[in-house]
Amino acid sequence: MTTDEQGLRRARGLAGTSGTGRVAVIIGGTRPTRITPGIAEWVRSVAQRDGALTYELVDLAEVGLPFLDERRMGALGHYEHEHTRAWSATVNSIDGFVFVFPQYNWGYPAVVKNALDFLYTEWRDKPTSYLTFGTRGGSRAAEQFHVILRGLGMHELDQHIEAVITKDDLDNDWQLRDPDDTLQPYTEQAQEIDVLMAEALRAEAVVAMN
Ligand SMILES: Cc1cc2nc3c(=O)[nH]c(=O)nc-3n(C[C@H](O)[C@H](O)[C@H](O)COP(=O)(O)O)c2cc1C
Repeated sequence: MTTDEQGLRRARGLAGTSGTGRVAVIIGGTRPTRITPGIAEWVRSVAQRDGALTYELVDLAEVGLPFLDERRMGALGHYEHEHTRAWSATVNSIDGFVFVFPQYNWGYPAVVKNALDFLYTEWRDKPTSYLTFGTRGGSRAAEQFHVILRGLGMHELDQHIEAVITKDDLDNDWQLRDPDDTLQPYTEQAQEIDVLMAEALRAEAVVAMN
């Protein structure tokens, strides 16, 4: 993003803590044959349509964190490992989050919890939503994730998505046949997430100016 674009965003009051209105769509499924990236890309593209914020994919498979290996808890902010410092810098540079993850055995994936637990202040107060999916919409994963967001002091937006994805949506390789068709019923919710995200970042910018 150019300096002019950043200035424009500030002028429009959409700047968050990084000053750029950046929102990460976190890919929270890391299996080799996963379907999460296609779903995350769908959310990203729908949320991006309005154009006020910049949505970008952050793939936890690429971030590649090990299981939590810091000696001190994240809330203290003393990071021993380069991978933690890099993750901290990434999360610090982002103003809001949309986590996308499958339901696994009535919970959300361990890789998501691990990525959260590495840090603390970097997440705090940032506007956050999520899309869970499963044969019944991933509601069990959503319930648990909601509690964790409270524990981290994140600002949960008043909209999230629980997408029903069944075997009929998958092909013989267990991949989504047509993400646009399967996810179309959730379009308005994804757009509302973008509206709420922009409002939250605008409110933050106003507080920061006072
Ligand atoms: C370990 C594991 C546990 C699962 N548990 C559930 C579940 O509790 N509810 C559900 O609807 N689907 C469940 N599924 C099916 C997943 O929704 C489906 O495999 C989906 O493709 C997972 O996303 P991914 O391919 O990105 O990993 C489970 C799948 C795995 C691999």
